[in-house]
Formats: sequence, C-alpha cells, structure tokens
Amino acid sequence: MDLRQLVRDVPDFPKPGILFRDLTPLMRDPRSWQEVIRQLEEVCERLQPDLIVGIESRGFIVGMALATQVALGFVPVRKPGKLPGSVTGVDYALEYGTDRLEIISDALEGGPRVMVVDDLLATGGTAAACAELVEAAGGKLCGFGFVAELAALEGRRRLPEEHPVESLIIYT
Ligand code: PRP
Ligand code: HPA
Repeated sequence: MDLRQLVRDVPDFPKPGILFRDLTPLMRDPRSWQEVIRQLEEVCERLQPDLIVGIESRGFIVGMALATQVALGFVPVRKPGKLPGSVTGVDYALEYGTDRLEIISDALEGGPRVMVVDDLLATGGTAAACAELVEAAGGKLCGFGFVAELAALEGRRRLPEEHPVESLIIYT
C-alpha cells in the first residue's frame, strides 16, 4: 500500500513558497489509516516504550490512535496555558521569536520509557523541544515516530542522536 498517494500537496500554504504535505486524506481513508497505525505499532515493538507522548495538535491524532492500538497510556504535550495544575515547560526558538511546550509535571513519574509521536518532522524544532521536555519531566526517551518527514529540512539532525527516529513516508 503506497501511503504517500493519499498525501495531498498544497502549494503556498500556509505561506507563499511553502509546499504543504496534507495528511488529512490519509486520515480520511480507514484502510490506509489502519496501515499507518500498524506500521507505527512495528516501530513501537522495536522501541519498547512504556508510554506514548503526542505533540499538540496533530500529534494527538496519531499518538492516541497508536497508544490505543498498543494498549499504552497517552500523555499530551501542549502549547502553553492549556494544561491544568503544575506543569513543566520548555521554551524553544522559532525562525522569528520563541514558542513553548508544556507537560503535566508528574505525568512521567517513575521514569517511564517514552516514545514521542507527531504527524510530521520538518525542521525538528518541535520534536527536539519535546525530547528536552520529556527528559526534564523525568521520562526516559526511547525514540520518535512520525508519519511523514521533510528530509530536506534536516530535522533529524536536531534530535538527540542516541535515539531512533522512524518516519513512514520520507520526502527527499
Ligand atoms: C506542525 C507539525 C509538527 C511541527 C513540525 O505543527 O504537526 O508538530 O509543525 O515542524 P518542525 O519540525 O519544523 O518543528 P504546528 O506547529 O503547525 O501545529 P498543529 O499540529 O497544531 O497544526
Ligand atoms: N505539512 C504538514 N505539517 C507541516 C508541514 C507540512 O508540509 N511543514 C511544517 N509542518
């Protein structure tokens, strides 16, 4: 099954000059989406996580589907101000300005092995910040799973090199 056939290329979104890889047709097709989750389950079997962490917002769609499939817990990493109670945060640089990700402070209590999941790896800034956050909150990162990766942006180089990075569809 060629998953990339169901990725829609949208020129000039969200800004002129950007070719946006839209995964929503893949999500809309039940057989293809089941195949996405099946392939991520294989990644999970290699990484042996105790918990799945998904990054807001498209990482929730992928991460929760995977967590349910493999019968593991799911922990959301969110944009600032969305999570209740005590949170741990990390600030990270964007091309212009900074952003922040947060996790509930005791969500990784006990030091579980954590697989970080998102829909897409682009520059790697978001996933790198999430990795830092997982460690800051006491988790043991065991690797990353993405549905798609824009390899030309070299996001992998920003991720901790000791952990596997697995993407189902790679755009070179
Ligand atoms: C997108 C995507 C990843 C991130 C990848 O999320 O879902 O989380 O960007 O980019 P990077 O590798 O260059 O950091 P976005 O911030 O657009 O948020 P959304 O999921 O809420 O749409
Ligand atoms: N598609 C989806 N999400 C993205 C992209 C893209 O091409 N670039 C950065 N985030």
